[in-house]
Amino acid sequence: MKEVKKYLDANRKRYLDELLELLRIPSISADQQYQAEVSRMADATAAHLRQAGLDRVEVFATAGHPVVYGEKMVDPSAPTVLVYGHYDVQPPDPLDLWQSPPFEPVVKKTKLHPQGAIFARGSCDDKGQFFMHVKAFEAMLQNNALPCNVKFMIEGEEEVGSKHLEEFCRANQEKLACDVVLISDTSIIANDTPSLTVGLRGLAYMEVEVTGPNKDLHSGVYGGAVANPINVLCAMIASLHDKKKRVTVKGFYDDVLKRSSKERKRMNEAPYDPKTYMKDLEVADLMGEEGYTTIERTGIRPTLDVNGIWGGYTGEGAKTVLPAKAFAKISMRLVPNQDPKKMEKLFQKHFESLAPKSVKVKVRALHGGHPVVVPTNSVEYKASEMAMERTFGKKPLPQHGGGSIPIVAMFDQVLGAHSVLMGFGLDSDDIHSPNEHYGLFNFYKGIETIPHFYQYYAQLKKKKK
Ligand code: BES
Ligand code: MN
Ligand code: MN
Repeated sequence: MKEVKKYLDANRKRYLDELLELLRIPSISADQQYQAEVSRMADATAAHLRQAGLDRVEVFATAGHPVVYGEKMVDPSAPTVLVYGHYDVQPPDPLDLWQSPPFEPVVKKTKLHPQGAIFARGSCDDKGQFFMHVKAFEAMLQNNALPCNVKFMIEGEEEVGSKHLEEFCRANQEKLACDVVLISDTSIIANDTPSLTVGLRGLAYMEVEVTGPNKDLHSGVYGGAVANPINVLCAMIASLHDKKKRVTVKGFYDDVLKRSSKERKRMNEAPYDPKTYMKDLEVADLMGEEGYTTIERTGIRPTLDVNGIWGGYTGEGAKTVLPAKAFAKISMRLVPNQDPKKMEKLFQKHFESLAPKSVKVKVRALHGGHPVVVPTNSVEYKASEMAMERTFGKKPLPQHGGGSIPIVAMFDQVLGAHSVLMGFGLDSDDIHSPNEHYGLFNFYKGIETIPHFYQYYAQLKKKKK
């Protein structure tokens, strides 16, 4: 392991330069106009896997964006680690809020990243994080310190719901056979407080359309007599939460896993300061489900949020119009044991029931994913704990991630393998927001920690045999 560390130290600058090149490719999966860039990113990822020494590297076409695969089989009796990550990124808008262009990475110091952070779309989510695995692999291979077989599967549709990855996994079960899935696409609590993600929320994402009259009308001639679909939609949305900020959708909480008071107490021992939290966001108060703390509200409680709402006139100046239609995108974050399909149906039924006769309502589901529970009594969890303790000098705390990685639950089902969610970002790294960044400390700490995971995992697996 000393050799690996030496190698890493000697190659720090090159590793960073290589990442910066990848961050220049605008691989925005949601936008059809960027399809060529998404494929260019897939090719660039494949080239890196080859250069790092992986075999059988291939870019697999899917009905959507391609999946990049590569493997290194060193010993049939050694355990196999499947590294999963995504090379696609979120759209960068609003562009005018970026201090430097989203696909022209720059390194700048910040309060939380005194050693510097890379500012670019995808720097933390997830190019910077999956790339740590490529570089850690390269270092292990170059120094004859690869104790496991390794497979890489880096996809290009995570940010749009991983629509075609399940089919790819089902069709390639043998190719992807593994003992554990290793993922860096989550956060740690702070750079001096390492953590491992032990749960992710699921997702059910809906779009609603409310139709009033058969055309846009003069808001003076007709206003007051005909239902305005935007007014109606707002009232419907407002009724989705009660005074205690609980979601009113019938049956919404029925399947929510009850947490013991012991578990809740332990969760809340993680460091969290509401004052800094509010100050960072420049909000004077917080709002959420009564009876739960922020850690609980984002970790173990389901939520419902409007992500976008539109309709009528939004151009410059004023236009007096009573619009024919109104729309909204509404997502539900789910927790164990809520089922996304069931939640879609509950939402649809409830939302339709809210509509007055004066409007028509259409509800459709866009995408979803199951929540994830990571068992903490497994060999792989232990190995990730030991690896982080080794490089941070502190045992990592278990943490519930509020975000979703829709495909993780599927890995359990289709590949029969548990995942380790060993991410190195910070919640304050502005993923999905303007000025996304990833700390150099985090990038290098991740690369340093990963080889220890392989080492401990191989050791613990052998002992168990
Ligand atoms: N990497 C994130 C998920 C994440 C971030 C989990 C931080 C835990 C902590 C992932 O790329 C993501 O953004 N997922 C989407 C879901 C998807 C269907 C668009 C999400 O959570 O909104
Ligand atoms: Mn991600
Ligand atoms: Mn994301």
